[in-house]
Amino acid sequence: MPEPAVPASRAASSELEVLRRRVEDLEQQLAQSQKLNAIGSLAGGVAHDFNNLLTAILGYVSLLREDAAGLQNVAEALDVIEKAADRASQLTAQLLGFARVGQPKRVRVDLHQTLPEVAELLRHTIDKRIRLETSLDAAAPQIMGDPGQMFQVFLNLSINARDAMPEGGVLTLATSNSGGWVRATVSDSGSGIPAGIRDRIFEPFFTTKEPGKGTGMGLTVVQTIVRSHGGRIELDTEPPPGTRFHIWLPVAADRVAAGVETQPAVPARGKGSVLVIDDEDVVRQVAARMLKSLGYHAICLGSAREAIDYYQRRRRDIDLVLLDLIMPDMDGKAVLHELLHADPAARVVVTSGYSQDASVDAMLDRGARAFLQKPYRLNQLSEVLTAALR
Ligand SMILES: Nc1ncnc2c1ncn2[C@@H]1O[C@H](COP(=O)(O)OP(=O)(O)OP(=O)(O)O)[C@@H](O)[C@H]1O
Ligand SMILES: [Mg+2]
Repeated sequence: MPEPAVPASRAASSELEVLRRRVEDLEQQLAQSQKLNAIGSLAGGVAHDFNNLLTAILGYVSLLREDAAGLQNVAEALDVIEKAADRASQLTAQLLGFARVGQPKRVRVDLHQTLPEVAELLRHTIDKRIRLETSLDAAAPQIMGDPGQMFQVFLNLSINARDAMPEGGVLTLATSNSGGWVRATVSDSGSGIPAGIRDRIFEPFFTTKEPGKGTGMGLTVVQTIVRSHGGRIELDTEPPPGTRFHIWLPVAADRVAAGVETQPAVPARGKGSVLVIDDEDVVRQVAARMLKSLGYHAICLGSAREAIDYYQRRRRDIDLVLLDLIMPDMDGKAVLHELLHADPAARVVVTSGYSQDASVDAMLDRGARAFLQKPYRLNQLSEVLTAALR
């Protein structure tokens, strides 16, 4: 039959066209996700280096605080420096979260602390025509989870809300309780989400923003984080105009005392010799000063090989090793192995500018005594040392 020849080839070519488009789509998605990966590892690297610098800043602040006792204006300046450095360290925690370096934390998070922090950040950065309101009504606003990731959830939702109100409007952050749940709501009086795209907004890379303005990953990240916290996200478009996102999260069980982790006011002093292994000059300097002020004797070395060699010769004189996870000449696991080989009873505390992850867990399994997250202050250092030397 000669007749179907032409339509068949036409059908084939339009099918090819569809496939070609699909391949193009996928190529674009791949390029996007590779870009994101690259940004992720860049962000992780920057955050890590930043934590080393913050270790020096916060370390010296806690040292100077002792010297400044009684000097009102110096103490005030130190408060400001410490607050700014704290903020920077929360940002690096966020960057590390974005880079997915380290595992999410499971600590008690007070949403009545997180939401005002988000509001504070927005207040300084968004258009003055957007009025910010908070209505924090939950009686039980605490959940278990990762504070940095929670911050990211409400920041992403708020930024979407901002983008929906280019001419200004009202952005509200609110909480309430229902049963064993806390409901946190981000609402705006903006454009609203057209019914036709509501079931696509959580898709990776779905965006209605112009190229270069949005990656379309904001809500994907929000949904991933909320789900990993045992929660759910609900889009509420009634009544129009505007948009409301409700985040439902399980209220933290009451076994831990309420409130943020408290830190002892006066760091406990100790004695003994601590070998600090860290390739970063500023970290070694501040660690030495902090250890000295706590009553310890400090020996600081910047090379893993040199430190192992030193430990092998002088292990009787060393009570504890403070070991940076990533050294340029050797990886932390190998260093730990050598130290424990030289002395199976070696007390090693691992420290890092990355958050605790599987490789840290592996080192703890193999006999490291504790993990100390950078940046650390005097009382955190003293707590970890006291416990590890006990
Ligand atoms: N509050 C809102 N009001 C109106 N539309 C919204 C709102 N929140 C999200 N959207 C719509 O959902 C889309 C996807 O949001 P999402 O946060 O995932 O990506 P994005 O904001 O476009 O880019 P990114 O967050 O990665 O920079 C947005 O492009 C927008 O069309
Ligand atoms: Mg967004």
